Amino acid sequence: MILIDGKKAAAELREELRKEVIELKDKHNRVPGLTVILIGDLTPSQIYVRNKEKSAKEVGLNSEVVKYPDTVEERVILDKIDELNKEDSVSGILVQLPLPKHIDKKKIIEAIDPAKDVDGFHPMNVGNLSSGYESSVPCTPLGCYLLIKQIEPKLSGKKAVIVGRSNLNGKPMTQLLLKENCTVTITHSKTKDLKAECLEADILVAAVGIPELVKGDWVKKDAIVIDVGINKTDKGIVGDVAFDEVSKKAKALTPVPGGVGPMTIACLLKNTVECFKRSQL
Ligand code: GUN
Repeated sequence: MILIDGKKAAAELREELRKEVIELKDKHNRVPGLTVILIGDLTPSQIYVRNKEKSAKEVGLNSEVVKYPDTVEERVILDKIDELNKEDSVSGILVQLPLPKHIDKKKIIEAIDPAKDVDGFHPMNVGNLSSGYESSVPCTPLGCYLLIKQIEPKLSGKKAVIVGRSNLNGKPMTQLLLKENCTVTITHSKTKDLKAECLEADILVAAVGIPELVKGDWVKKDAIVIDVGINKTDKGIVGDVAFDEVSKKAKALTPVPGGVGPMTIACLLKNTVECFKRSQL
């Protein structure tokens, strides 16, 4: 079984980006910039944002974090986004989710200039991705896709099953694999026989947030299994896949942690560089 090393893949991607940023600096006399807006003091969000900032600096991007208390008014955030949309030195804008209840996520996402939407959450980017046009692609599914391609470059005709239909993961993952000519099934909480669906998969992506949902006898022999879950349990952090059982069946499997997580952040940097390049055309 191949243990898919997301840390290593992410380090390689960061190194490629670092070199590209040097070339871009030579060519345009400036570097891509990423601004992250962090509202409130939720610990996981603070950790993510700190990691994003550290990685951005490592590859040579301009990186800024703008922090607000969780009592901040929605208007203040919308005004800040408007300012960042107009600021040439800012190539990418990310508003860390989740947001406090009084702030409308949809309004915030739609306020970001689609050309600076490094999360790929703006409806314009969602539509562009599903139509096969150039777009920002949400970082986690993009990271999963790059890991899958490393294991299996020829995806055409493969049967892919996605567990979870979120805008963040399941839906964009579907689009990326469809583009590769996979036959994609997207499953969710109302799917009748989830085990039977999963057993069909050459490529199985679990992104539902249910600890160790996918068992060993749900997985076809030699399937590629990607575990997007990060679930806090009494045993510590576990994924959506029962790792020990599934590792006996799969051809390749991502661990949690150290699988998809590091690739998500590296892909955010990639999206920032891509937004910068498109803005220079
Ligand atoms: N919170 C958890 N994951 C993400 C992400 O990919 N983007 C944003 N903006 N917030 C998140």
